[in-house]
Order: sequence, then C-alpha cells, then structure tokens
Amino acid sequence: MMVKEYIDSNIQRFQDELFEWLRIPSVSADSRYKQDVRKAAEFLKAKFQEIGVDHAELCETGGHPIVYAEKKVNPSAPTILVYGHYDVQPPDPLDLWISPPFEPQVRDGKIFARGACDDKGQVYMHVKAFETMSRLNRLSCNVKFMVEGEEEVGSENLASFVRDNKEKLKADIILISDTAMISLDHPSITVGLRGLSYMEVEVTGPNRDLHSGVYGGAIANPVNVLCRMIASLHDDKGRITIPGFYDKVVELKPAEREALNRAPFSLETYKRDLQINEIWGEEGYTTLERTGIRPTLDVNGIWGGYTGEGAKTVLPSKAHAKISMRLVPNQSSEEISKLFTKHIKAIAPPTVSVNVIAHHGGEPAVTPTEGKAFAAAAKAFESVWGKRPIPTRDGGSIPIVALFKKELNLDTVLMGFGLDSDAIHAPNEHFGVKNFRMGIETIVAFHKHYAE
Ligand code: BES
Ligand code: MN
Ligand code: MN
Repeated sequence: MMVKEYIDSNIQRFQDELFEWLRIPSVSADSRYKQDVRKAAEFLKAKFQEIGVDHAELCETGGHPIVYAEKKVNPSAPTILVYGHYDVQPPDPLDLWISPPFEPQVRDGKIFARGACDDKGQVYMHVKAFETMSRLNRLSCNVKFMVEGEEEVGSENLASFVRDNKEKLKADIILISDTAMISLDHPSITVGLRGLSYMEVEVTGPNRDLHSGVYGGAIANPVNVLCRMIASLHDDKGRITIPGFYDKVVELKPAEREALNRAPFSLETYKRDLQINEIWGEEGYTTLERTGIRPTLDVNGIWGGYTGEGAKTVLPSKAHAKISMRLVPNQSSEEISKLFTKHIKAIAPPTVSVNVIAHHGGEPAVTPTEGKAFAAAAKAFESVWGKRPIPTRDGGSIPIVALFKKELNLDTVLMGFGLDSDAIHAPNEHFGVKNFRMGIETIVAFHKHYAE
C-alpha cells in the first residue's frame, strides 16, 4: 500500500485519537491540572506502545514527566530524535472560546481545541507518521521520541534530563514540529527562533493603600511611576533604551536581509487579520525583520490598585508588571536579564523602591540551511506540497534547540505545520485538518529522504 493511501484511509481514526488526547487538559502552569498532565503523558506512552516501538516509558523529573520512546531499525541507519511537548497553555479567557477548549470540534476544516496546534496536534503527526511507516514496513531510520510536559512553563527540568541522558538521546538529528509555516500555498522551514528573557517588576510606594483624595497629589503613585518607567524603555524610533541591549546583536548582511524579505508577506492582509490601522516597530526594519531578526521588549501583564467592578478611589501601595524580551543571536538570556534589572533599578525615582525577578528564559537559535537534514526536509515538503519550502525566521522561542546544540552538539530541523493565524496561546486555538494530514505525509517523506 502507498503511504498516501494508508494515511487517507486512516485519517478519521488519527483525528479521533488526537481528539481523545486533546480532551485531557494538560495545563502545565496550573497545579490543579497536575493529574491531567500525567494522564496526557500516559495516553501518549500507550499510543507509542500500540504502534510498535521497542520501548516506551515515562521519565520522572522534578516536575511533569517526559515521555520517551524508541525504535531501533538498523544499526547502520541514521537516528532521528523527535522532540515536542504535550503540555498546553492555560485556556483563559474561557468566555471567548466558541466551543470549550477541551472539547475538540471541527469547524471550517479546522480542529478547535487548546493544544490543537501547540503542540499536541503537531506531536501526534509524528506518532501517526511512525505508525504509517511501521505498518507499511517503511521505517528507514532509527527513531527516538522525547516529548516533555513543561515546555510552556520554561522546561525547568529538561536541561538536567538532557545532560544526564546523553547516551539515551544519542542521535544524528533533532526533528521538531512546533512552529508555523507561511501558508498552505507557501510551505516553509523555520531556520531561526528568538530567545527569551522573562522578568517581573514590583514597584512599592507607601506602606499601604491610601485614599486617593486624602493623599493624591502629594505621594508618588507606584502605578503611575511604573507606567512612566515602562514607557521610557522604548525611544521614538521603537528602539529599546536599556544600555548595552543591542551590543551583541548580530546584524544580518544586506543579502541575507534581502533573502528574508523575499518571503511572501502582505501588509494589507496582516493588518486586516488583526483589525489594526497601522503597524508599529523599530525604524529601519520590515515587519518580517522585526519579528524574525530583531530583539523586542513587551509588557505581558500589568496590575495594581483596584481592577474590580465599578470605581474605588485608591492610591495603591504597589504596582506590578511582567515584561518579556525576545532575543536574537548572539544575545544571552542571562546577560540581558542582568542589564534589564540594572537599568530598571537605575531609572526608578527615589519615591519608590523596586524589586526585579527573573523568570525562565532561553537562548536564540539558528539552524543550518546546508547539509543532509535540511535538504531532506526541503525535498519532503516539495514532494507533498509541490513547492520548494521557503526558509523563515520565526519570532517565538523553543529553548531546547540551543540546548540540544550545546549539550549534544546536535542540529535541529524545524518542520512546523501550524499557521501564524492558528491562535496558539489564545482563545479558539486551532489546527487545519489539511495541515495535520499533509504534515503526516511530509514527516514520512522526511524519514525516507534522510535515510537516502
Ligand atoms: N511552539 C511555541 C513556540 C513557537 C510558536 C515558535 C510559533 C515559533 C512559532 C512554544 O510552545 C512556546 O510557546 N514557547 C514559548 C517560550 C517558552 C520558554 C515558554 C514562547 O515562545 O513564548
Ligand atoms: Mn509549542
Ligand atoms: Mn506554546
């Protein structure tokens, strides 16, 4: 039987199985879901066992377990290590979902559910690609799977797992489907990811909340102060004002920038999709450059004082903000976190005190566009989508990519099948049924070409 035939005649079952997995709310950030996270891991382990791997297990960590499975086909064949994550983002805000986040539903040719695209749907393509190759006797590479449950909360236990299991994780290439492609008409391969520094700032003024009439005008309001501080972190050109922030940033050569901007992109469609009148960003760079090769700083959340119903007159004692910075080669997450902390303390007026906490981070990565693995991925896309894939730089972060390079000296191929419009991390996350089906085919084709 042909690969396409097998996939087409089993696609409904593949989707039903994925739905069952999506119904398990594996929200890693929220301890109330701890048992569900484990259930999702157990589910995946059972699915690996069903499709005939040699060995599947849950590897315990200090947090959520890692699902590991492997199949040795032939000692002289190359080994592909597939990485992904089975944990998902919290589904909030719940009232904006058209159908409930953990009751998957197909509408308009798309699977709607939390994790449909990021990353259960994309991981499951690898499981079913393996099933297809196994059933059709077409396994050409040795395969290892490492699917973690803490990606969305910073992969705290992953670095030590990788360091402690170098032998187990020995492979020739890392394969990850956790990114996006340009569109169904324009397949692409991600060749760069940004890094991340995630910070929290607490500004404290008076020792208690005050009546905003009695004290207002005479005491610096911590929320006002924090807003001024945050506003000063960008200049009029959209550049970040933290001293030293850009020192290590690699500037691309004109030819590289030109190549990056050749990717199909319509500003009109972009604006229409987001219902904005105008875009914004660092002067001198295009939108593709601003998200692909330039570092950024954004407030992810800001709070303080009264945010409940109605009005309460209060001059709050404290103000808080969560601020993330996306990093590009060769910025270092730790260094940038230090520069941020130093700068925030330096610009805080004497009316308040500030406390800065560094949350998780991750290093940026670029993956090779030369060599056997990229060539196999390009060929795989071309054979299924009928077009050569375009190399792109994605704005999101997958810290494990840099970590695999550092700890195992392994390169990664980022074969993502999502779309930027899939609403990952947001209400109504979805994943195209077509993306799911063609993704499986593309993965099978990659295994074939990589073994050649
Ligand atoms: N799959 C995403 C990363 C991603 C999304 C890369 C789209 C490229 C395109 C991943 O699950 C994620 O959300 N990563 C976090 C970082 C992590 C350290 C919490 C991110 O990018 O915010
Ligand atoms: Mn992901
Ligand atoms: Mn994510």
